[in-house]
Amino acid sequence: MAERTTAFTVDTTRLQGVAEQPLFLAASRVAERMGVRAFAIGGYVRDLLLGRPCKDIDIVCEGDGIAYAEAVAKELNAGRVHVFKNFGTAMFTLRQAQGSDELQVEFVGARKESYQRNSRKPEVAPGTLRDDQERRDFTINALAISLNEADRGALVDPFNGVHDLERGIIRTPLDPDITFSDDPLRMMRAIRFATQLGYFIDAPTFEAIQRNAERLDIISAERIHTELNKIIGAPVPSIGFKLLLNCGLLVRFFPEMVELLGAEEKFGIGHKDNFYHTIQVLDNVAMQSDDLWLRWAAVLHDIAKPRTKRFEQGRGWTFHGHEDKGARMVPGIFRRMKLPLDEQMRFVKKLVALHLRPIALTKEEVTDSAVRRLLFDAGDDIDALMILCKADITSKNEARKKRYLANYELVLEKLKEVEEKDRVRNFQPPITGEDIMAAFNIPPCKAIGDIKTVIKDAILDGRIHNDRTAAWPLMVEEGKKLGLQVVAGMEEPGHG
Ligand code: CTP
Repeated sequence: MAERTTAFTVDTTRLQGVAEQPLFLAASRVAERMGVRAFAIGGYVRDLLLGRPCKDIDIVCEGDGIAYAEAVAKELNAGRVHVFKNFGTAMFTLRQAQGSDELQVEFVGARKESYQRNSRKPEVAPGTLRDDQERRDFTINALAISLNEADRGALVDPFNGVHDLERGIIRTPLDPDITFSDDPLRMMRAIRFATQLGYFIDAPTFEAIQRNAERLDIISAERIHTELNKIIGAPVPSIGFKLLLNCGLLVRFFPEMVELLGAEEKFGIGHKDNFYHTIQVLDNVAMQSDDLWLRWAAVLHDIAKPRTKRFEQGRGWTFHGHEDKGARMVPGIFRRMKLPLDEQMRFVKKLVALHLRPIALTKEEVTDSAVRRLLFDAGDDIDALMILCKADITSKNEARKKRYLANYELVLEKLKEVEEKDRVRNFQPPITGEDIMAAFNIPPCKAIGDIKTVIKDAILDGRIHNDRTAAWPLMVEEGKKLGLQVVAGMEEPGHG
């Protein structure tokens, strides 16, 4: 794996100024009084040097982190200090200048730490800053800024983290086998940072991930999906999926996706590799939308292709019903990954089920009634569905791609037209079940559903208008067919 050629230079001179902000000055005074050494450390320093938005601050001290946090909070008249005795950490919230966000400041005593195999429970002993930096995940996350009077604002960088920031390299401070064994989630984090920042994972670090991939099995599904969602939320998520595949992590928690890999050939007829197609669709969606769940729909849109694949004489490869089977696979995958099972999951399931519909429309003439049905089925998710549908056009054959895109535009236009005319996006039946019960004086029964379906179909097919006046006579007529008589005085609409 090569280093990035477009190096940029980290400007460390700014740190002096940063260290003069009230929080750090107070931290400095208190450290002096208590006779401890203190440092800002980790993601805050990394993001500061990268010029990324300032986020929560971690402060480490060589001593009792909780006592130090309480003293700094007092010095600043900050609010309540939350103490997490089990972890030896404490935090408080700092209100910054008016109008800006609150800042969480977390304190910890520097530690030597060693994790037991098969458990995340660390054995902790007090340590120095250097011990603490060593046990962090990556060199770019092990940078510290001194908060001590003698050298306030100085960067403490024992592992060349700045060099790695400049060259775009993810590398562990210690032997990567040790770093990953301490917390196997760090293997996911390596890929997440590489994807978010566009960095390379250094060869020894990457090889260690390949060697240790199975150790991810001891990590909870929640922690894994938190990292995965950050990869999916990155500007070019395909980078992360390729890395996850190549280092052997993906198969540990997402085997269905690995099954998409490969392009089989029979009698000289091949099909596209659905893994690379899927991640290209994901990148295409990512260019249009930050919606995590729309991006998840891209990840899962073809997930059932391997399970529906057939080779049919005269037709070649087919994947009949992969959209329905795929939609049915969504809840199982979400449950296993401990992703939300409520409306977000239903949204993803719906988009997977509908993803072929817009383009399928163009196989024949695009009729108003087919467009109305699509609008009815997609409802308010139609815009998301159209983004997914366009992203799904990835053919390498330029002529075919052009034809599909032209068809897509046609459907888009028709959708607008029909939506303005018929307002079926949030279809509400003009005649309710209660109307039908009252009109025929009948209790709840199957006939009510049947009559409602006939009315809905008539509206979607464009045979009647979407209103009560048009629907009432149809209800009366359908009732008659089922042997039902309208109660006297209910022959006309207006009984709503
Ligand atoms: N850290 C670590 N190993 C982990 C998690 C965190 O060594 N498994 C260390 C790193 O030094 C990291 C710091 O703890 O920079 C803070 O972790 P966290 O807040 O989870 O992540 P950040 O690096 O700050 O990044 P982000 O906010 O983007 O998650």
